[in-house]
Amino acid sequence: MSLASFNNSSLITGALLLVPILFVLYRNLTPSSSSDTTSSDSSSPSDTSEQEPKSIMQPARTDLLPPKDDPFTLNELKQYDGTTEGMPIYVSIKGTVFDVSHKSDVYGAGKSYNIFAGKDGSKGLGMSSLKTEHAVPDYSGLDEKDMKTLNDWHAFFIKRYNIVGRVSDLPDAVKDQ
Ligand code: HEM
Repeated sequence: MSLASFNNSSLITGALLLVPILFVLYRNLTPSSSSDTTSSDSSSPSDTSEQEPKSIMQPARTDLLPPKDDPFTLNELKQYDGTTEGMPIYVSIKGTVFDVSHKSDVYGAGKSYNIFAGKDGSKGLGMSSLKTEHAVPDYSGLDEKDMKTLNDWHAFFIKRYNIVGRVSDLPDAVKDQ
């Protein structure tokens, strides 16, 4: 085996080993309500892992404002996608609109989770997908596991972001859910 091919196969082996490591790492990052204390939500009562790994996710907040109920159409939401300087950034999950402006480091233009800004991308959150085609409000096709992931994200956001309103024109398949 030539040195060049050895290096190539080492690289491929290294890359293959990285995939499960990243997966395990991310499993520890996905939302969990067990370390939260402000229990305004009851969607994940079974989430009680005893050995909570030290999370690098932001902690729950205790200074949230009373939730607002202002209606937003999906079209109106688009202006809050982080592309306009000085405008707030909004993320909607299952029709609940959250102000995520103080996390522009992840939701701002060009940042990792900008895909969820200025829209309701519930389906993608449930699927743990960052693909544009998945960041849509109709999550009706999600299986039980992905539905739990979506509900966990909703609970995560409720404890960390101010609610500024709700989407008034969700697709029929997920309206009133
Ligand atoms: C190996 C892949 C991934 C890694 C290493 C990773 C890493 C992280 C890290 C470090 C944070 C905390 C960020 C912060 O608070 O500053 C985070 C938060 C988050 N991640 Fe990921 N992530 C990965 C994949 C994904 C995927 C596929 C999704 C799609 C749903 C996703 C959605 C989120 C969301 C919504 C947050 C919450 C941000 C917040 O509001 O605090 N991540 N991730």
